[in-house]
Amino acid sequence: MTEILSEKVDELSEQMAKQLNGKEEEVDNEDDKVDPWNVTSNSKAGVDYDKLIVRFGCSKLNDEILTKMETLINQKVHHFLRRGIFFSHRDLHLILKRYEEKKPFFLYTGRGPSSSALHLGHLIPFMFTRWIQEAFNVPLVIQMTDDEKFLWKDLTIETTKKMTKENVKDIIAMGFDVNKTFIFSDLSYIGKCPEFYENIIRVQRSVTFNQVKGIFGFGDSDCIGKIAFPAIQAAPSFSSSFPFIFDGKKDIPSLIPCAIDQDPYFRMTRDVAPRLSLPKPALMHSSFLPALTGAQTKMSASDPNNSIFLTDTPNQIKNKINRYAFSGGGATVDEHRANGGDCDIDISYQYMKFFMEDDNRLEELRTEYSSGRLLTGDLKKELIGILQKVVAEHQERRKTVTDEIVEQFMTPRKLNF
Ligand code: TRP
Repeated sequence: MTEILSEKVDELSEQMAKQLNGKEEEVDNEDDKVDPWNVTSNSKAGVDYDKLIVRFGCSKLNDEILTKMETLINQKVHHFLRRGIFFSHRDLHLILKRYEEKKPFFLYTGRGPSSSALHLGHLIPFMFTRWIQEAFNVPLVIQMTDDEKFLWKDLTIETTKKMTKENVKDIIAMGFDVNKTFIFSDLSYIGKCPEFYENIIRVQRSVTFNQVKGIFGFGDSDCIGKIAFPAIQAAPSFSSSFPFIFDGKKDIPSLIPCAIDQDPYFRMTRDVAPRLSLPKPALMHSSFLPALTGAQTKMSASDPNNSIFLTDTPNQIKNKINRYAFSGGGATVDEHRANGGDCDIDISYQYMKFFMEDDNRLEELRTEYSSGRLLTGDLKKELIGILQKVVAEHQERRKTVTDEIVEQFMTPRKLNF
C-alpha cells in the first residue's frame, strides 16, 4: 500500500518537476509558477489558487470545515480564514477531531532568515499562527533555517546568524507566548539535540536523490547541502524532535501553517512519515501577499519599491503606496465613475483584505470602489492609515524585545499546555 502510494507520489513529483523546470511543458505556460524559490503568475489577479489546490492535491478550506472549527473553538475564525487568505489544507479534519477528543497536537512553522528587515508578507503566516496558538492553546515550535539560507544565498555563517537573531526579535514582537513557544536556529539546535539529528537522518535515508530531484527540481550541479536540506525542514514535523517538550513521545502530530510554496517539503514529509511509523503532519496553506506593483509576483525583500518593510517610516509607507500600488481603477476619473474599479486586481483593496479587520467596512469599500463612487486615491488613503498603524505598532513592540527575551524563547525547555 505504502509502496503504491509512494510510487504515485514519485509520479506526481516528476510531473511537478517538469512543470517547475518549465522547459518540457511549454503547453502549461498559462499555469502559475509556485515553488519554494519562485512565485509568478501571468494574471493581474495573481495565482489561481483553486487550480493550485487541484495541481498539488490538497483540499480547500471550505465552509464546512471552518464552521466545524468555529464550533470547536467557540469563536469566529480569523479573518484570513473568512476571506480565503488561508485557503487550503491537508488533514486539518484529523487535527480537529483530536482536539475534540482532547488529544494533543502541536504547531510548527518557520522562517528562512535571508534579510534582516522583514516585510509585510512575512507577517502573514506568523499572525495566523499566533491566532491559532491562542485559539487552540497549543505548543508551537518555530524553525529558523539559517543553514538553508547559508546553502542557498551568498552569505557567511556569521551573517546568517545575525539575521536569525534580528528575525527572531521580529517574530517575538508578533506576540507569541513564551510559555508555549520554542524558537530554534538549525545551526545551534542540531548540536544540542541528538533526537533532532536522528530524525533528520531517518528522513534522509528514506528519500532518494531521484525523489528530491522530482519534488524540488534539483540538478546535478546543485551542492549536496541543498539536496540534504529538505530532511532538515521535515524533521520538526515530528514530536520526537523535541524530547524536552513532549517527554520523548513520538506520536503527537503537528499542524503546519505555511505559505503554499512550502508545500513540497511537507508532501515529502507526509510521504516518508508512515515508513518511519510517525504521524503525518497536517497543513494549512496561505496565499501570498502580492507585490505593490501587481499580483503577478509576491512581495519580496529583494525589491524595496515593491515591498513595505517593518522598518519603514510612515512617510515611506505613504510614498510607496501612492507611487507604486497598482490600481484597478479607470484611466481617468470620468471613466472610473462610469465603469467602476476592479477589486480583484487593485493592490490597495487586496492589502485591505489582509490588514483591515472590519468586515463591514471592507465590504463597503468593495461595493463603493466597484461602482466607481470611490476613487483609487480614496482607497489608498485609507490603506496608508491602516498600514502605518500596523507597522508603527510592530516597531513599538519590537523595541521591548531584549536579548534576554530572545534567549528565553530559544532555550530548550518544557512548555506549558
Ligand atoms: N523554508 C522556509 C523559508 O525559507 C522556512 C521554514 C522552515 C518554514 N520550516 C518551515 C516555513 C515550516 C513554514 C513552515 O522561509
